[in-house]
Amino acid sequence: MSSTLPDTPCDLNGELLPLSQAKVSVLDRGFIFGDGIYEAIPVYGRRIFRFDEHMARLARNLDKLRMATPAGLARPEDWLERVRRVVAAQPADDQMLYIQVTRGVAMRDHVMPIGLEPTVFIMSNPFKPVPAEARHQGVACISARDFRWERGDIKSTSLLGNVLARQMAADQDAAETILFREGAHGGPWLTEGSSSNVWIVHEGALLGPPMNEHVLEGIRVALLRELCEEEGIAYNLRPISEADVRAADELLLSSSGREVLAVTKLDGDLVGHGALRGKPGPVYARLYEAYQRAKREQSV
Ligand SMILES: Cc1ncc(COP(=O)(O)O)c(C=O)c1O
Repeated sequence: MSSTLPDTPCDLNGELLPLSQAKVSVLDRGFIFGDGIYEAIPVYGRRIFRFDEHMARLARNLDKLRMATPAGLARPEDWLERVRRVVAAQPADDQMLYIQVTRGVAMRDHVMPIGLEPTVFIMSNPFKPVPAEARHQGVACISARDFRWERGDIKSTSLLGNVLARQMAADQDAAETILFREGAHGGPWLTEGSSSNVWIVHEGALLGPPMNEHVLEGIRVALLRELCEEEGIAYNLRPISEADVRAADELLLSSSGREVLAVTKLDGDLVGHGALRGKPGPVYARLYEAYQRAKREQSV
């Protein structure tokens, strides 16, 4: 099995070794409980995009899970030095860098053991850009009830709900499953995608749902606010009903891998109105261009 894994160097607890040889204990709480967090960070031309923002989210998540700061990694510079070694060792110039931190290795017990040393695993894979055809035509998505837990704000390695939701899309040759949740005040309300944030365009404004315990605050959430400011596009986070989504002028996804991406079909229905129905729209096009500029300007 391991022979099918690439031999690209990765970093396990500070040691650089081939991916096929990196091993963690069966008692690692990441394996036993999914007790860990992660970051997926795009790297363009070997420069890391929005590194500080990703590291700030990692620190917030460590805090939320009451996990210790891993040894020797107290400052963003310490992380940068570690991840740069992995980035340098990956043959591809454009990469997706993963940082995975689990609570560490201990005898099985739900209660969090005191004083554990977290396991830190860093790997970087070749970046898989959105295929040209999907960029050009937009992608099809399906929708589903958001059946995940109520802490979607944590970027947890416990991704079973997200995996199931993503597979529902894959089974229908769709790019993503867009999730809706019933709320105290009506609904269903838009939460997010299985591995993306979801946006609508309404009367020229980019609208996303509020960042609460049902939604991961993607690094692109703040980035899109900045890009909207630069482009003079109104931007607002507010509850978005399923009806709002189905009536949207444009529908967009954002994530580290997809950057921003137009959704042109939802549950088999074309998105948008008039001549632009079923086509990527003008707000998408402007944000995509602005995103490409930001990649060049905001990578370290
Ligand atoms: C559930 C979920 N929501 C949103 C996002 C978008 O976050 P980011 O912009 O940091 O990639 C992701 C990440 O891929 C995700 O897995």
